[in-house]
Amino acid sequence: MNIKGSVALVTGANRGLGRAYVQALLDAGAKKVYAAARNPATVGDLPGVQPIKLDVTNPDDVAAAAKAYTDVTIVINNAGIMRVAPVVSGGIDPVAARAEMDTNFYGVLAMSNAFAPILKANGGGALVNMLSVLSWVTLPGVALYSASKAAAWSLTNALRKDLRAQGTLVIGVHAGYIDTDMVSAVQAEKTSPSAIAQQVVQAIANGEEEVLADAISRQVKAGLSAEASVYLARNAA
Ligand SMILES: NC(=O)c1ccc[n+]([C@@H]2O[C@H](COP(=O)([O-])OP(=O)(O)OC[C@H]3O[C@@H](n4cnc5c(N)ncnc54)[C@H](OP(=O)(O)O)[C@@H]3O)[C@@H](O)[C@H]2O)c1
Repeated sequence: MNIKGSVALVTGANRGLGRAYVQALLDAGAKKVYAAARNPATVGDLPGVQPIKLDVTNPDDVAAAAKAYTDVTIVINNAGIMRVAPVVSGGIDPVAARAEMDTNFYGVLAMSNAFAPILKANGGGALVNMLSVLSWVTLPGVALYSASKAAAWSLTNALRKDLRAQGTLVIGVHAGYIDTDMVSAVQAEKTSPSAIAQQVVQAIANGEEEVLADAISRQVKAGLSAEASVYLARNAA
């Protein structure tokens, strides 16, 4: 797909990886980027960027965006949340579980449903879902986040098959730690948001359906088929 002249919509575009997606799309020649945020005033003023109000868990926001922005050819479902909530020890937190599923799974589903007809009408385009290495392995402290990303991975695979007929490229992006607010408390090797975003924009251009954006995501994917699969490992991920 040619990024030059494309019109993109990025959710959670006001900071972190979303902001990097906006910049990478502009750098690659996108004509316009709708930078969607819960508070569009936090997006800032960039040439080629139109801040729009969009909470992915709010059906009215999603419907209004799909009604207004009918020129979109690339959708990047980037918005996400992580709540640290032990799954059993310490007690499951049902509020955190629902919030993560609402944003990381149902938000992706709602945006995909709303924008699939627009992508079709505009010739196919691309739909990118920001997943994680935690779609494949889980950590007890972020088990509910991991479950939401596993569900989003499964959904991505369904969307890919469903939307192939209309010529829409569906890309799942897996990564380990990325240097954003989400994991600011974690001391570990992290990939820069711009490095992830550039790979994804290249994948859109190349028509690739999956991005394994760092060494850990490549190792974990390879480890799924190990005799003792990576998700069984005592120190998994
Ligand atoms: N950081 C990592 O290590 C890592 C690794 C793998 C995958 N990811 C995934 O990458 C994506 C981006 O995360 P990040 O690292 O950039 O995190 P971040 O710095 O915490 O940013 C999250 C973004 O999502 C937005 N958001 C949250 N809930 C939303 C909602 N209901 N509607 C619209 N926007 C919403 C936030 O907006 P507000 O400013 O309004 O809160 C913010 O713009 C997420 O899907 C995350 O799960 C991150």
